[in-house]
Parts: sequence; structure tokens; C-alpha cells
Amino acid sequence: MAQQKAIAGFSKWSADEKLNWLKDTFGLPEPLVRDLQSHRHQDPDMQEMYEEFSENTVSNFFIPFGLAPNFLVNGKWYVVPMAIEESSVVAAASHAAKFWSAHGGFTAVVDDPVKVGQVHFIWTGAKAFIADLFSRTREALVAAMEPVTASMKKRGGGIKAIRLVDKTGEMENYYQLHVDFRTAEAMGANFINTVLEALAGKWKALVQEEAAAKNATGTLEINMAILSNYTPESLVKVSVETGVSALGIFDPDLSGKEFAEKFVRAVEIARADPYRAVTHNKGIFNGMDGVVIATGNDFRAVEACGHAYAARDGQYRGLSSASLHDDIFRFELEVPMSVGTVGGLTSGHPLARATLKILQEPTAAELMMIIGAAGLANNFSAVRSLITSGIQKGHMKMHLTNILRQLGATDAQKQAAVAYFMDKTVSYADVRKFISG
Ligand code: MEV
Repeated sequence: MAQQKAIAGFSKWSADEKLNWLKDTFGLPEPLVRDLQSHRHQDPDMQEMYEEFSENTVSNFFIPFGLAPNFLVNGKWYVVPMAIEESSVVAAASHAAKFWSAHGGFTAVVDDPVKVGQVHFIWTGAKAFIADLFSRTREALVAAMEPVTASMKKRGGGIKAIRLVDKTGEMENYYQLHVDFRTAEAMGANFINTVLEALAGKWKALVQEEAAAKNATGTLEINMAILSNYTPESLVKVSVETGVSALGIFDPDLSGKEFAEKFVRAVEIARADPYRAVTHNKGIFNGMDGVVIATGNDFRAVEACGHAYAARDGQYRGLSSASLHDDIFRFELEVPMSVGTVGGLTSGHPLARATLKILQEPTAAELMMIIGAAGLANNFSAVRSLITSGIQKGHMKMHLTNILRQLGATDAQKQAAVAYFMDKTVSYADVRKFISG
């Protein structure tokens, strides 16, 4: 029954034709077909809008859109929307946010949000030839981009710097034009890529003209022109700080100071060991991604950038750090990212628009601070659980809820099961046995 040959014209089929084909080809049972159908938006215009975000859409994949209240960031209160499919993440963010709001909240700063783009090219002639040409034409190159940069410049953005980079040490004849951009409140991917492609064309023409005029040997191939999702200068730094006595509430067996010492060691372990660092950072991205997705930003870009930064000294390390000095516990996160609050899905997706409204229409820099705070909050909750009760206690409660739903338990059965499994290990088989009496 599986697909036997390549399909022609798949993208032209309607959603129902695609579903029927799935049914026939993969034996998709009726209830699953109905699930796919029922997850389409009831308003055909809205469904059409969702379909336009992507291709070959047959349905929509829902993930919960939740709210984490009580975030105090630089003295301003936020309710932080999070789109996330993993249980415990919103609860963890909310608990940490509430705790830290009673202890001064999150302090956040953003460095210059510089975006990066590159024209990668191969030049087979003399290095001095393009180095000299570039230094003479750098300003003309930027000026020639005026038609594509004019409207961004009006918003305070545009090309900030451009340099020629010699990469021949890494690869024969390989050079780059490395461009720093500012994109105001937009993430700016389209703007950057448009400028880079125009720049690549202009640079190629300049090199060819100059080579012809000077009878110089060498050929130039533009290999590609594309933004880089690595923006290490566009950093957000978020921190929380408190006297250790406040931390005495987290474990009856640990004083506030003992808790802080254990916490600092756990964070140091994540800086020392890549296996632990990946999971530690995953806990940070649990919080960050939830907000990034809810605002319609590109979470793959934010993840890729953060993980590259985590490995910037050659070893993958935890992105957060913690310290204890004179009984003051400090916990901080430093992570680069590139996000926007205008353009793209941030303006096109209705729930992203709702998120930005709930966040009180932040600037891109403010959004970075909120995302960083959500990351640090989730990291705090995860490490706090790990060094005290362990994470399974909280997770198992959620796990039980999920199993009860899958088994179609009644409200009375749910209540009885929650009480019964309070001090027991939760497994699917045991819950089923309990339900069936
Ligand atoms: C689970 O999604 C995230 C944690 O594993 C993070 C961590 O270990 O720090 C709890």
C-alpha cells in the first residue's frame, strides 16, 4: 500500500485530495483522517492564511499557547505567552518568575543588536588585487545599495560595516564580504538577503571591470550570499540575585546557603561537561523557544545561534553561570539572538500579534530581554528540581494526567487516581489497572 512511484503535481492537489491519497496509499484510518480534517480552522479565510505560511498544507498542528505570569524584567511586569508542547515548562517558568519577582526580578541588558550577512566568493587572482579594489570601492559599494537600504535607513537600520575577509587559510581562493547590519525592530532576514544578493552582483561587476581595465588575471565566482544566523554581538544578558537566606524554602534538608552552593556546583558541571551542558541548555531553550514561537520568530535560528555561542571557546558549555559571594547568590544567562517585533510572522500570525500585544508591544531589544528571562527562569526551575527532589516528581504528575486522558478517565476516576498515585510510581499499565478497578 505504500507509495510506489514519484508523484507528479502533488502541490496542485487540494487538501482533501491529499488526504484521500494518504488514506488510500498509507491506509490512514478514518478517525485519523477526521482528526486531520477537524484540526483545520473553521473559518476558511483563516485556514487559507495558515496554508499560505507553508506548502502542501493538509491540516494544522496545534501546540498549547499558555501564559506565564509574574515576570518582572527591569522593573516592568509581564505576562509571558509561551507556545510549547512540553508539560511543566510553563509551570516552571511561572514558579521561577514569581519567586524572583519577590527578590528584585530579572535585570536584563542588550548589547548592540548587530545582524550579520556574508557574500562568499572564490577569487583565483592575486589577493592584493581585490584587497586594493575593495578598499577603494567600499563606500561606493555601500552607496550602490541605497535603493534597497533606503527604507530601512529611515527606520534607523541599514548597513553598519562591511569588510573583506581573507579565508584562503581555510580554503583555497576563498574570500568573503562580511557585512554588519542593523534592522531596527525587524529580524530583517529578507532585508539582509536582498541587500547581500545586490551586493554580490555589484561586487562581481566591479571586480570584472577592474580586471578587464588592468588586464589582471583571475576569475571571480560568487558562491552564495546569505545572512548568518550567528550574531554573537547581539547579546542579551539576564541576571537574578538574592541573599542566600531567601533560598532556604526550596528543600527542607538544605539551608539557603547549602542550596546556593549546590546550585552553583550544578551550573559549573554544565560548564565543564558537554553531555550535561546540552541538557542544561535544552532547559534554557524550553523557556526561550516557547516565547520565540509565540511571537512568530524563528526558533531554529535562535537555537542555532545559541548553541554556536555555547561552543565559542571550542567546547560546548552551559549558557548560564552562577556564583556565590558574601552570601549573595547570582545567576545569569548570556545568549545571543536575532529576533524582531515587526515583519514576517510576527505581524502575519494572529497569535503572534496577540502575544506582542500581551507583552505590551516590546521593541526587539525588550523582546530579547523577555526571552532571556524566560530562559533563565526555566533553567532556574530545572536546576532547582534536579538538585532537590529530582524532576520526576513534577513530571510524573503531568504524565499521570496525560495517561488518564488517553484512557478516557472520568473526572471521578481522575481524582481517585491522583490521590492513589501521590506516593507511587506512575506507569501506563498501573494506571490502566487502577482505572479498570
Ligand atoms: C527537560 O525538558 C529539561 C531538563 O532536562 C533541563 C535540565 O536538565 O536542566 C529538566
